[in-house]
Amino acid sequence: MSINMRKAMFCGSFDPFTIGHLDIVKRASKMFDEVHILIAVNANKKRNYDSNWMAYAIQKTVEDENITNVIVVSFDGLVAKYAKDNQIDYSIRGLRNSMDYNYEENIAEVNKLINDNLEQIYLRTSNAAISSSMVRELFSYGEDVSKFVPKEIYRVMRDCRTLSQKIWLNY
Ligand code: COA
Repeated sequence: MSINMRKAMFCGSFDPFTIGHLDIVKRASKMFDEVHILIAVNANKKRNYDSNWMAYAIQKTVEDENITNVIVVSFDGLVAKYAKDNQIDYSIRGLRNSMDYNYEENIAEVNKLINDNLEQIYLRTSNAAISSSMVRELFSYGEDVSKFVPKEIYRVMRDCRTLSQKIWLNY
């Protein structure tokens, strides 16, 4: 590993990881030597898909895309601390609109208090309408969401639904 290696992290709930997230990862992987995708905990959100399953599916997705400089981690601590511990200097955030910007700036301020070296980088998102909650909601109504998520992620979503149906039927 080079001492000047440029490392970045891309954090989110990724519940589920969508094609919007994948677009950011593809672009970030060209800008940095190493990109860590952190499935982190948003204290205001209840998870729907197991983070380890999601991590596995994201890893398979980046492999399918022949992206070799991405590491996927399921992490339940402070992301600014993770960055410090792993010599990561950049945090990538996708910006969908001006509301996102205000929200992100607050988070950036908090992260700076923990890790002053962390630089926040914003990338414009090209799939602004495709949020994780939108995908979950359409899926819960039986809509085909396969065009909004990578195929490995769609598999996890289907498997989870089948599993919960089985548990429900055996109850
Ligand atoms: N294209 C389309 N949609 C996108 C997108 C993109 N490129 N990037 C993000 N989104 C969507 C997400 O799907 C998400 O949708 P949802 O609200 O329907 O779930 C929404 O934008 C918000 O995403 P994000 O801002 O990344 O929030 P998050 O909940 O996914 O992640 C954490 C927030 C986990 C990064 C943040 O809570 C965190 O850092 N937690 C760790 C603890 C910590 O360090 N706390 C201190 C900081 S305050």
